[in-house]
Amino acid sequence: MPFTIAIDGPAASGKGTIAKALSRRFGFHHLDTGLLYRAVGAKGGDPLETARSLTARDLQRPDLRSNEAGQAASRVAIIPEVRLALVEFQRRFAIQEPGAVLDGRDIGTVICPNADLKLYVIASDEVRARRRASEIGADPAETLAALQERDARDQERETAPLRPADNAVILDTTEMSITEAVTDAVRLVIARRKGDGKLT
Ligand code: CDP
Repeated sequence: MPFTIAIDGPAASGKGTIAKALSRRFGFHHLDTGLLYRAVGAKGGDPLETARSLTARDLQRPDLRSNEAGQAASRVAIIPEVRLALVEFQRRFAIQEPGAVLDGRDIGTVICPNADLKLYVIASDEVRARRRASEIGADPAETLAALQERDARDQERETAPLRPADNAVILDTTEMSITEAVTDAVRLVIARRKGDGKLT
């Protein structure tokens, strides 16, 4: 049975960094599900048509990490039919051997409710804005406003709103370095795999 890790949380909380590190450490596949929504938002046109015909090339656009692409993503992410069009791809990705890590907003609640481990990664607004601004070379104050606007939209939407799954482990990375956050996450995976009888 493949081992599935679901990582959710607000914008720039450290989900992606932790997901990438876990996938490398355990040899698991990794999917940044935010890229799907960013690609749909950035491509324009009818969002549902775009979601249904998304290609690997669309996910490689160089402008997908920008604040603008993030805003466009959260606008198309409100549309239930767009979300539905992307469900099957994500669920198939999640059950690959030997395991998969998916990060996003609704992985533990909607996409993989039976994931072996669910993490909900948070950090203070200021820390998240500082991290994202330096990652993409944007103004910190503008980035803070963009993150807060997007979080509110993600939390308040009716379909698959951003919230921790009931059995998610909350990881607050405000005061943590990347190494500390990853070490904590690795420990949680090892403990859960031992519980499953798989020694890591
Ligand atoms: O990297 P960051 O946390 O800033 O954002 P992202 O994961 O790339 O997601 C961009 C936007 O896509 C989010 O603000 C959500 O509106 C949407 N999204 C979603 O609705 N569901 C997901 N599973 C992933 C992203």
